[in-house]
Amino acid sequence: MEAIIEEERKERLARRYDEEESLLVGTGGYVPPGPHLWEDVLTSVVIRRPVLLKGPTGSGKTKLAESVSAFFAQPMHQVNCSVDLDAEALLGFKTIIQQEGQTVIDFVDGPVITAMKKGHILYIDEINMAKPETLPILHSVLDYRRMLTNPFTGEIIRAHPDFSVLAAINEGYVGTVPMNEALKNRFIAFQVPYLGTEETRELLEREFPDAPEVLIDTMLGISSDLREQVRNGLLEDEAASIRSLIDATELALHIGMERAVQYAIAEKLEDRGERQLVQDLARTRIR
Ligand SMILES: Nc1ncnc2c1ncn2[C@@H]1O[C@H](COP(=O)(O)OP(=O)(O)O)[C@@H](O)[C@H]1O
Ligand SMILES: [Mg+2]
Repeated sequence: MEAIIEEERKERLARRYDEEESLLVGTGGYVPPGPHLWEDVLTSVVIRRPVLLKGPTGSGKTKLAESVSAFFAQPMHQVNCSVDLDAEALLGFKTIIQQEGQTVIDFVDGPVITAMKKGHILYIDEINMAKPETLPILHSVLDYRRMLTNPFTGEIIRAHPDFSVLAAINEGYVGTVPMNEALKNRFIAFQVPYLGTEETRELLEREFPDAPEVLIDTMLGISSDLREQVRNGLLEDEAASIRSLIDATELALHIGMERAVQYAIAEKLEDRGERQLVQDLARTRIR
């Protein structure tokens, strides 16, 4: 691993957090799809560039961000974007408090400002689900300035040196808008694909160490068939979701494999023909 990553890690690991902050440290366990992704993401974090993770649903984007948080033992705040996301949800809000018998207005820091001040990680999920007019407020946070003037209070906030940003998008997904160029430009962008068969085996064996080998083998066979049909354009991407595969495997520890695949994978596809294809593929693998 790059020396700058190790050095930075040593420094970040030496920090002490209180109990509440410690609850925000992610659990690791991301399995990378190839030789470079994990280290290259860490390098970008270390050189203080915001990281954009692009990939289909269930490809491990959130898991990857959580693993960065675990790697540095650094608390992470998550913002989930939607059309309702507003400046308050990002920055915080004003509230009235009693102080020494006086009624005063106080500002409760939101996730962006908290992460900036305390040197935590900020994870912005589904960043392309937000209304385009909401996010420009983050431009100065995301570029070399690493600062923000809080529009609600006028306070100027400079980011702590350890403040790091990761964001995720699922390109082309329903409800998303293309990400604003000025915003996208500020990120270093990574493609996060579904894992290949070998890495998926590693993941399933780790998640389910007590599962019968035949179950793991069968699920991997089904997964590789599904992947192939996604490549052939006969199934939508989601059919190859690792999340769904994990769910199907866990269900199959308790109920029949065919039904497990039906509930965890097939039923979630929009197209009736695709649902049927998944069931047919599964049936030929299940003995
Ligand atoms: N490469 C991976 N390494 C470890 N776990 C993964 C990986 N890909 C998917 N998963 C698992 O699949 C599920 C969905 O992953 P998640 O990170 O929530 O996907 P996304 O955020 O891309 O929708 C989680 O249970 C996660 O642990
Ligand atoms: Mg996610």
